[in-house]
Amino acid sequence: MEHIEKGLNVAIVGGGHGCKAFLELLAGGALKKVQMNILSVADINEDAEGLRYAKKMGVFTTNDYKVFYGLNGLNLIIELTGDNEVREAIIKTKPHHVQLMDHISARLFWEIMEGEKELKLKDELLETKKFLHAIINGIRDQIMVVDRDYRIEEANEALVARLGKPKHEIIGEYCYWALHSTHEPCNIPNHSCPVQVAFKTGETCEVLHTHYEGRGVSYFRVIAYPMLDDEGEVTRVIEMARDITKWKKSGDQLYHVQKLVFLGKLAAGLAHELNNPVAVILGFADLLLEKIEVGCPTYEILKIIERQGLNCKRIVENLLSFARHPETTEYSTDVNVDLEGVISVVENILTTNKVTLEKNFAGDLPRVRGDSGHLRQVFINLITNAVAAMAGGGRLTISTRLDESDNRVKIFFKDTGHGIKREYRDKIFDPFFTTREVGEGTGLGLSACYGIVNKYDGDITFETVGEEEDRERKGTTFTVSLPVALSVDEEISSRA
Ligand SMILES: Nc1ncnc2c1ncn2[C@@H]1O[C@H](COP(=O)(O)OP(=O)(O)OP(=O)(O)O)[C@@H](O)[C@H]1O
Ligand SMILES: [Mg+2]
Repeated sequence: MEHIEKGLNVAIVGGGHGCKAFLELLAGGALKKVQMNILSVADINEDAEGLRYAKKMGVFTTNDYKVFYGLNGLNLIIELTGDNEVREAIIKTKPHHVQLMDHISARLFWEIMEGEKELKLKDELLETKKFLHAIINGIRDQIMVVDRDYRIEEANEALVARLGKPKHEIIGEYCYWALHSTHEPCNIPNHSCPVQVAFKTGETCEVLHTHYEGRGVSYFRVIAYPMLDDEGEVTRVIEMARDITKWKKSGDQLYHVQKLVFLGKLAAGLAHELNNPVAVILGFADLLLEKIEVGCPTYEILKIIERQGLNCKRIVENLLSFARHPETTEYSTDVNVDLEGVISVVENILTTNKVTLEKNFAGDLPRVRGDSGHLRQVFINLITNAVAAMAGGGRLTISTRLDESDNRVKIFFKDTGHGIKREYRDKIFDPFFTTREVGEGTGLGLSACYGIVNKYDGDITFETVGEEEDRERKGTTFTVSLPVALSVDEEISSRA
């Protein structure tokens, strides 16, 4: 018995372009579910492209469709000639059990197939779009796509969150307005805009930007990638910005500590070398002062030598304060008591400089890790700095409180002085950085404070508003944060 294919056994009348497209569709697996088998293709033109394609596929071809009627298992004829007479003739001659799909139904069928293909394509596009969105929104860096007019075409969630506006208000906005509130493309000296550079050069541009927002400083690593069209023209730029403030600050801190370690060694050596000659100078000045009559010119000169000698001694002591490591870090102290002690010493200075003092000390403050003598030195330095910043008078508020979230005691020194200029903010802890007149300051005060506080795992930070920024709110607050000292029991168990 001859083998009969299961499913739909089809013969096509008309081997033109439509036939070829149909066969290609089948070969692409489009109608797999229907199990359609092409038994034969007929066309009077032997050169018809569909006919030739069928032959190549190994399908039986003929120039007379009536041959189909003898084909075993045939159940459908598709008429693709577009000729009504052919259609009529097939209807009249075909065996009863064989169905006919004429060119009109075939056309309809084709349109439906194309429509489905388009829908599928749209679905796929939508999926791809969703996938891309998920990727760019999953990235924590702030990303935007900017066109040649500097208008934002796309912004990810991180950027939307930073700008604090709904996304639809950001899209279409000029990037310089949305990001920097300026009315034209940014033109800040020494602060090149990576988007402009990428448009101009067609190359990736990476920069480090410093943003002064409110009272704080933040640092961003910004990279702009140009997007080229087929002609190599930059049509868009993708900008990615990463907030590296934390990373930079910890890096700076490390750099600072290293600098202090180096300076500590230098200071120890210097102090050793200087201590003896200074002691000799002071000793002899003292001896001569005893022998000379008070008030005569030589006496005044000797007094100057003595004063300057004492100055040298103070500088050496300051240097030593961060060169010297406390033997242990097990000391603990009560900062409220230390502050009272310091205030009693500086009270006079405060009054002569017309500085009013306000104290907000928390009661029941736990003891902190640290040596009382060292911490008093920190407090004196911070108070003298505050007084120096309030030429003509002002208000100094010293507060203490326990921050239970990190189990640290915080001490705040808030002044109403001239504040710290932006360009000095990342330098003030540097050894020998000072804005005071020559001979007035050594620039070692804050370095010493930093060194001491750091030794007890503490921290010293500041917030400032410069008088050039806001005359009403100007001033600086230094915050010293120190870990609460372990109780005796905890101390013992931590050592066990
Ligand atoms: N409270 C403050 N207000 C404004 N500027 C300050 C304040 N504290 C510190 N500064 C700035 O930081 C700089 C460095 O301070 P630091 O205490 O290290 O040195 P100094 O006070 O200049 O000299 P020294 O303390 O050695 O006598 C100061 O010169 C000043 O410009
Ligand atoms: Mg100082």
